[in-house]
Amino acid sequence: MTAPVLELEDVKKSYPGEPPVEALRGVSLRIDEGEMVAVVGPSGSGKSTLLHIVGTLDRPTSGRVRITGLDTNHLSDRELAALRAQRIGFVFQQFFLAEHQSVLDNVADGMLYAGARLGDRRARAVQSLARVGLGHRGATRPTTLSGGERQRVAIARALVGRPAIVLADEPTGNLDSANGGAIVDLLEGLHAAGATIVVITHDRDLADRMPRQVEMRDGRIVADTAAQPAEPPGREW
Ligand SMILES: Nc1ncnc2c1ncn2[C@@H]1O[C@H](COP(=O)(O)OP(=O)(O)OP(=O)(O)O)[C@@H](O)[C@H]1O
Ligand SMILES: [Mg+2]
Repeated sequence: MTAPVLELEDVKKSYPGEPPVEALRGVSLRIDEGEMVAVVGPSGSGKSTLLHIVGTLDRPTSGRVRITGLDTNHLSDRELAALRAQRIGFVFQQFFLAEHQSVLDNVADGMLYAGARLGDRRARAVQSLARVGLGHRGATRPTTLSGGERQRVAIARALVGRPAIVLADEPTGNLDSANGGAIVDLLEGLHAAGATIVVITHDRDLADRMPRQVEMRDGRIVADTAAQPAEPPGREW
């Protein structure tokens, strides 16, 4: 049996202050390969904190985080950075593209820390751009793209290293509904092809399109439609 892609056990996170902010108050969560999960909840409920901890960008105050079976408590910052580079893809509301670089090199940079050579990274970037329907735009600068296209480039960058899990924080937050809908279509297509995806969203309609919804409130998971694990998929992407 393969380990879950992601396993959180009683994860707590507090930020120092007077009084400290208890951003996560004991979150346990398991996500299996091939799942597509929406994380919903009001502003300040801890969604982004959860994503940062799942993405190993931040460490929990207590509790355990396992990524593809690896206990992150036992890893040094350097080892965590390597795990992040190889197994996790991020998509954010602000696309974070480098404007002075071509679209292709923005995507190739998604593998910058994974140890691949530039030629290999570019070859993979070509495939990844094609996957998001922008194979013909690699040579252009991001500034010439629409918001929806920029987000597709960011998704291509997240996918280029074939991560075990893609984490998206409000990926449609800066887009109008048509462009946002296209991004959700794209994520659904990636899920159908075997990707494991977690999407944080304020948008109920968007969340309703995903097979599993986890609802957060005040630093806790208050609802999870999950229960039934997804079929182990083949990875075609
Ligand atoms: N670096 C930080 N230092 C102190 N407090 C923080 C920090 N980051 C988040 N918080 C606090 O932790 C709580 C959870 O924040 P978080 O960003 O996870 O919420 P969220 O659910 O993503 O909200 P939103 O929907 O507005 O993005 C909030 O009260 C927030 O103010
Ligand atoms: Mg947030």
